[in-house]
Amino acid sequence: MGKVHTLLAFTLQVLCTCHTASTFSNGFFYQDIFNGNGNGEIHFNGIKLRVEAQQHSVFAVTGSNITLPCRFWYEPPLISPRRVRVKWSLLPLSGDQESDVFVSIGHHQRSFGEFKNRVHLQKDVQGDISLIITNVSLKDSGQYRCEVIDGLEDKSATVDLGLRGVVFPYQPHHGRYHLTFKAAQKACNDQDAAVATFDQLFAAWQEGLDWCNAGWLADGTVQYPIVQPRQPCGGLDLAPGVRSYGARHKHRNRYDVFCFTSAIMGQVYFLQHPQKLNFTMAVQACIEDGAQIAKVGQLFAAWKFLELDQCDAGWLADGSLRYPISNSRPNCGPQKSGVRSFGFPSPYHKHGVYCYRSR
Ligand SMILES: *[C@@H]1O[C@H](CO)[C@@H](O)[C@H](O)[C@H]1NC(C)=O
Ligand SMILES: *[C@@H]1O[C@H](CO)[C@@H](O)[C@H](O)[C@H]1NC(C)=O
Ligand SMILES: *[C@@H]1O[C@H](CO)[C@@H](O)[C@H](O)[C@H]1NC(C)=O
Repeated sequence: MGKVHTLLAFTLQVLCTCHTASTFSNGFFYQDIFNGNGNGEIHFNGIKLRVEAQQHSVFAVTGSNITLPCRFWYEPPLISPRRVRVKWSLLPLSGDQESDVFVSIGHHQRSFGEFKNRVHLQKDVQGDISLIITNVSLKDSGQYRCEVIDGLEDKSATVDLGLRGVVFPYQPHHGRYHLTFKAAQKACNDQDAAVATFDQLFAAWQEGLDWCNAGWLADGTVQYPIVQPRQPCGGLDLAPGVRSYGARHKHRNRYDVFCFTSAIMGQVYFLQHPQKLNFTMAVQACIEDGAQIAKVGQLFAAWKFLELDQCDAGWLADGSLRYPISNSRPNCGPQKSGVRSFGFPSPYHKHGVYCYRSR
C-alpha cells in the first residue's frame, strides 16, 4: 500500500504542478493537491503519521465490554487537528478472511455485520482511536487492525483479542467418535462453546488437560493432549504433549471434539429441591426457579472461573450427568480438581440438576 501511495503522490505532484498552491502552516511546508474530490486533502512532506497499539494483546470474557487500544499522532506534532479516516478490521482466529468492523470519517461512522451497534471509538484524548466492543462474544476473538488514512498516508497497527476460557473434551450421547467436523461445531455451539483452536488446546495441556480420545480442532485437525504417557494412549515411548492425527476429512471422518468456552457473566448453581428429578422434571424445575438447565460449557466455566464445587451429580441440558469439584476430597471422584461425568443416563433416572441464570 505504502509504495503505491508514494508513487501516486509523486505522479499527482507532477501532473498537478499547474494547480498546486503552496502554503505555510504550522511551521512546515505543505503542498496542496487538487485531487478532484474537493476535500482539500493535502500531501505533506517531512511530516510522519504514526499509529500505535499500546498493548499487543488484550483478554476478555464473553458478555463483557473490552477496549482495544490504538492511537495516532504526527511527528512533528500538528497544531490543528486534521480529518482522518479510521478503520478497524478483524482477522478471526479460526477464519481466513479479514472483515470490516468499524469505519469513521469525521463525525460519520459505521459498524458492520456482527459488530453493528456494538462498537464505538473511545476518543478520550486527541488521537485516541481505541475501539470499545460491548457484549463480547466467542466469535470476536482474533487479530484486529486499526488503520488511519490521512489523504495519501495510510498507517496501521494490530492488537489481538483473546478470550479467557476453558477447554473441555466433548462426546455426544451416542458415544465415542461420532462427530463429523460440522457436527462437532454444532455440538460445541449447543454447549455455549466453540470448537477450540490449537493454541487453546495447547494452553489447556500446559495446565494439565489429559484426554485419551482424539477430537476435532477449529483448523480441521484432530489431536489429543497427554500429560501422563500410558499404554492405551499412544504408548509409553511417546513424550507427553499434544498429539496430532493431522488434518482429517471433514465429512467422512468422525471423532470427538475439544470445545472452548469463555468465562460466563451468569451464575451456575445446584438446585436445592426436595426430590430427585428425572430429566424432563429437571428442565422444568430450573424454569420454575427463574433459570434454565445449565449447559456443559457453562458448568465448565463456573468450575474454572468461579471455583464451583459441589459433590452432587446433576442433569445438564444435553442429558448428561456431571458435577464440578474444585477441592478434591474422598468420595468425590479422583484426587484432582475437575468436572466429573457419568455420561448420559436414561432420562427416567432421578438425580439433581444444575441451573444457569444470566445476570
Ligand atoms: C457495557 O457497556 C454498555 C454501554 O456502554 C453498558 O450499558 C453495559 O452496562 C456495560 N456492560 C458491562 C458488563 O460492563
Ligand atoms: C449479548 O450477545 C448475546 C449473543 O452473543 C445475546 O444473546 C445477548 O442478548 C446480548 N446481550 C445484550 C445485553 O445485548
Ligand atoms: C418424568 O416424571 C414425570 C412426572 O412423574 C413424567 O410425567 C414424565 O414422563 C417423566 N419423564 C421422563 C423422561 O422420565
